[in-house]
Parts: sequence; C-alpha cells; structure tokens
Amino acid sequence: MITKFPSISSKAPVMLHGADYNPEQWLKYPEILREDLRLMKLAGCNVMSVGIFSWVSLEKEEGVFTFDWLDSLLDTFSENGIYAFLATPSGARPAWMSEKYPEVLRVERNRVRNLHGVRHNHCFTSPVYRDKTALLNSKLAERYAHHPAVIGWHISNEFGGECHCDLCQTAFRDWLKVKYDNNLEELNHAWWATFWSHTYTSWEQIESPAPHGETQVHGLNLDWRRFVSEQTINFCQHEITSVRSYNPELPVTTNMHMIDGIDYRELAKILDVVSWDAYPDWGYTADDDDARLAAWIAMHHDLFRSFKKKPFLLMESTPSLTNWQSVSKLKRPGMHKLSSLQAVAHGSDSVQYFQWRKSRGSSEKFHGAVVDHSGHAETRVFRDVAEVGRTLAGLTDVVGTSTPVQTAIIFDWDNRWAIKDAQGINNSALRYEETVLQHYRGLWELGIPVDIISSGDDLSAYKLVIAPMLYLISEVNGKKIEKYVEQGGTFLATYWSGVVGETDLCHLGGFPGPLRRTLGIWAEETEGLHSRDLNGIVMQTGNALSLSGDYDAHEIAELIHLEGAEMLGAYRNDFYAGQPALTLNKLGAGLAYHLATRVKDPTFYVELYAAITSKAGITRTMNSELPTGVTAQLRTDGENEYIFVQNFSGIQQSVELDERAYTDLESGAVAASVIDLPVNGLVMLKRKA
Ligand code: GLA
Ligand code: ZN
Repeated sequence: MITKFPSISSKAPVMLHGADYNPEQWLKYPEILREDLRLMKLAGCNVMSVGIFSWVSLEKEEGVFTFDWLDSLLDTFSENGIYAFLATPSGARPAWMSEKYPEVLRVERNRVRNLHGVRHNHCFTSPVYRDKTALLNSKLAERYAHHPAVIGWHISNEFGGECHCDLCQTAFRDWLKVKYDNNLEELNHAWWATFWSHTYTSWEQIESPAPHGETQVHGLNLDWRRFVSEQTINFCQHEITSVRSYNPELPVTTNMHMIDGIDYRELAKILDVVSWDAYPDWGYTADDDDARLAAWIAMHHDLFRSFKKKPFLLMESTPSLTNWQSVSKLKRPGMHKLSSLQAVAHGSDSVQYFQWRKSRGSSEKFHGAVVDHSGHAETRVFRDVAEVGRTLAGLTDVVGTSTPVQTAIIFDWDNRWAIKDAQGINNSALRYEETVLQHYRGLWELGIPVDIISSGDDLSAYKLVIAPMLYLISEVNGKKIEKYVEQGGTFLATYWSGVVGETDLCHLGGFPGPLRRTLGIWAEETEGLHSRDLNGIVMQTGNALSLSGDYDAHEIAELIHLEGAEMLGAYRNDFYAGQPALTLNKLGAGLAYHLATRVKDPTFYVELYAAITSKAGITRTMNSELPTGVTAQLRTDGENEYIFVQNFSGIQQSVELDERAYTDLESGAVAASVIDLPVNGLVMLKRKA
C-alpha cells in the first residue's frame, strides 16, 4: 500500500489554500485587482481557480478571442507565488451562442426548451456545444498549458442536470441498443414492460421519462439515469481530450458536489485528482446537531477520497455563509478552522473557497467571500481565513499522506436511484442516505477511518464491510460478498437488502436474494411503521457481541427466518415479538451480521460497531474514550501519523490521550496527557507510526 503520494502538482508541494476568483468582473476597477493580490498574500492564499464562467470574457463574439486579461493575471500570479487551477468555461455560455444555435439550450422533462439564462443548462449531446467547447478549450490549452502559474485543469463547473431534446432522445436509444444487444425483447423483459401494456414494439417509441408521459417503468427510469450520468461523463471526457495533449502532465479535475445525478465514482475514473464542493450549514440542522452534520460531511470527504484512495481537493467551501440555504447563518467562532481542517483530516490537500471577493451585483452578491464589499482585511472572516492560511502553511509534511482504512461502507449510485424510485414499504421515511449516515456515524464517533466503496469493488483489503439498505445488488456482486465472508471478512447488511438486480427486477426465490446464503436468513416480509408504532431490539443473554439491554426501533421492520444464522437480538413488540431482529451467521472463516430493523438511537450504532470492530481486530485512531460529537481521524506517511481530534459536540470537551508519545503539531511541544477541546475546537497531534 502506498503511504505517501506526490503532491498534486510538483510545482506546489504544499497545502493549497485559495478560492474561486473572477477578475473579469472587475476589469474596470484596476485598483481592486491590485489590492486583491496584496490581500491574497495577506490571507496566506497560494492558489486561485480562474476562468470558471468566463466564456464571454474570452470569446466576446463567435470566433473573436481575447486573452489579454488572463495573460496578465497569470503572469502576475507567477511573479507573486500564486498558482492557478485554470477552468474551462463551459459551465455557462454566452448569449450569442444561444441566439445563433438554439440546440445548445437544454430541453426540460416537460419537453420545453429553455430560454437563455442562468448556468449549468446546456445539452451535453449537442455537437455544436461540444465543438464550441473544444475550440475554446484548445485555445486556452495552447496558450496556458505550460504557464508556470497553472497547476491543473478545473474542467467546467459542477456538472449536472439532464436534457430531453431530440438529440438526447436519439443518443439514449442508441445507448439502449448497445446495452440490450439491439434486442428489444431483452429490453422489454429487463424493464418488465408487459406491466400496464408498456411493451415497446420499436426503438423509436422509447422516450425519456416525462411528467406527462412515462414515469412508472422503474427499469426505464434507472437506465435513463445511467444514460444521463454516462453522457455527462462523456462530455467531461470530451473536454479533457480537448486540453490533454497540450501538456499531458497537467493534472485534471472537475469539482463535484452532493448532487445525485451523476455517478461520481465513474466520473472520478477519468480525472487525475478528485475535488468537491462542501457546503455544510453549521448550526442549522433541524435538531441543531452539528455532530450529525459533521459526520455527514466527513462521510462525503471519505467518499471522495475513496474514489482514488489518495488525497483529494476541497475545491469550494464558504468562508462564512452561503446565499442559498434557507437561513444563511454565520460560522460561529472556531468553526471555520475546524471545518476547514476537517477536510484535511479526511484526506484533502487543500482548503479552497467560493469565493475570493463578493461580486458587486447579480445572484451571488451576498454569498460569503474572503473579501467583503468593504474591501479590506479588517473583518472577522478575513482573519479566520488568514488563520487557516497560517495553519495550512505548517502542514506541508501532511501533503500526500494516506488514510489507512480497515472498514468500508458500500454506497452505490444505482442502488440509491433504484431504492428511491421504488414505491412501497415506507414512502414517507425511506431515508436511504440517513441510514448510511447512521452506520457511518457509529464509526465516526469511535474514531474509526472508513472508505466508502461500491458493491463491485475488491473487498479483500477490508476487515469489515457494511452495506446499509443494499436494495439493488447483482448476482455477481452478491457472490463477491459471499466469497469475501467465506475467506474471513466481516459483513453487515440491513433490512431492505438484496431485493432487486441490475435492471430493478426483483430477485426471485426469497430476499435478500444473492445475500441470503451469506447472511443465513430469509426475509419473508418487510413492513413500514407509523411514527406511533415503536418497536425495539431486545439483546439476547450471552449474545456473541456481549450487547445488553434494548434499543428502540422504528420506520422499517423485516420479519426474518433463521437459515443458519443465530439470533443476537429479538423484536420487542407486536405480533413478531421474540423473533430475530439482529443476527449473526458464521460462513467459512467469516462473520455476517444482519440488522432487520431501523434502530433509532445513535448510541446503538456506536455500541454495535465498538463490539463488531473489536471482534474483527480493527484499530481505532486512538485508544482513547472519545466523547459524543468528538472524533479523531488519521493520516500517515508510514513513518509519522497525524491525528486530527475534532470537537463538533457544541460543548467544551477533553480527551485523555493513550499511552503513546504525542506532540502538538502546531506548537511542536509535547502534548499534555489530557487535551482540552473548546467548543468548535481542534487539536492536531503527531506520533510515530
Ligand atoms: C457552487 C458553485 C459555485 C457557487 C457556489 C455557491 O458550489 O460551484 O459557483 O455558485 O455553489 O455556494
Ligand atoms: Zn439534449
């Protein structure tokens, strides 16, 4: 296993710190551009993402290109030690293009073509859009691919959305023909199209889902989502191809978000480095639980790191507030540093913001920025940013370090799409992502690093694999999991797993389908519960996990039969009281747990995973008791380990360190045996591996 990776760019072997920067909005204000440079240095910023949404400033009219402002910007950057991620500007297009070539405009689900406006709304199939993008991209590449300031490509911006134009319909049908071997019979079977007489008798009859057309064929919905994802990735690849040859060494990324439209794991495969945009609304979750939100963000950091199992970039985050969340709260003291370093703790080699300077007009004029409309550095936000800049400057040794992981959670895009599309069981409280988070948080509270992987991935590197609500799983991937357990792995699955296969057809012969032998159970019935129907799991005396007591359960419950598994916990109430709710199956050299109902209390997951991980021989970041809402995450270069102890609990905490020798990473001093963590506090430690 590689323990230390090279920095993302050999030009900048440091922690990157910077922001999206749009000097083209300020060309009439040269004094502001000069001041920006001074302030960037003052804030300890060393990288800016430039060119995002700059199309009209680079190609004012069709075929008329201007690069003067970008020439002088990049030259000034290199004279001042500031690097640039150079964006391709395809995230928004000029009005002249929409006017002359309406095919670039996206058609919505209702089949109405958009007018020109906003951004992220072009047809990814349109040959005109592809040509125009490739032309400008290649001009940028020709000019800047070897510029000393440029350390990477930032392809477009937050790819997403879908287009239903005629070009896309044809491309979808062609995609289906390839997938189903030109065999309409096969497609009809895969989509169970005889249902409601939806059988297709020619390819031309197939249309993407529409509110006034087809919405109920789950196989169609799922394949449409897969097509949209692949078409978007194909467009991104087209952009990469247009710049790559000018300097194959220049790393390529595109900034991802929490959007659910693209299979990011697939998108990551065509990139050199993964980057993402994180916008937690601290202090504003319904239950005001920042620890839950911190675990949610941590899970995303882990997801993005897991794509390549190497450091990623936090490409955007807000230095203060956003303008699009329902309430725009400021970050409380300490939170900017804590949440920025949270990304680093989980494997980011950068902390970057949207945006450097608040725009003077238009929709994002009140979105947080490093520099406010006041224009100077004497602000709370600027001071917070500068503090992060100073901290990152001290973390050069952490650049490129890896995250050693023994535990993985399975999170598949097609499962996510299919499970949400299905009707039944509990339409009002399905909560797929929240369920994944419940399990993740148990591990996060224990300070156990986690990879987020796919059901098709190689599992052999992990001691424990958890699959919350793995509703869609293919026979092939089911077999892989079975083999993993037989060979000594530990696996945990939950209710509503192994229900459908690749095209959303139910597995026949009993759920959990391809996981049935692994789990040693048969799930005969699954029900949704009203909020008034509280059930629970009563742990059995002498159970293999030594868990005791009982835990409230709600929302979903599955009635299972033991087929080789043993019962660790039984249902508490209702006509199935006493029947198995938590089981363990021993298969070959491994163990497979099944949780048949949704436990409410977060402490259950902490206790469950404390027991399962210690049985599986999984190490925690520290052998210390971590208070609720406090986590410890780890990066290593093989020789030294860097530990990030983070307090998201909302109250002051302290942690007693284990017996190893720790130094404080910031001060270099020997760490006290008990470390104090103020509200939103963070302590970074170093120890020998
Ligand atoms: C996204 C976009 C940015 C900006 C921010 C605002 O992440 O990529 O251009 O609009 O949101 O939060
Ligand atoms: Zn289209």
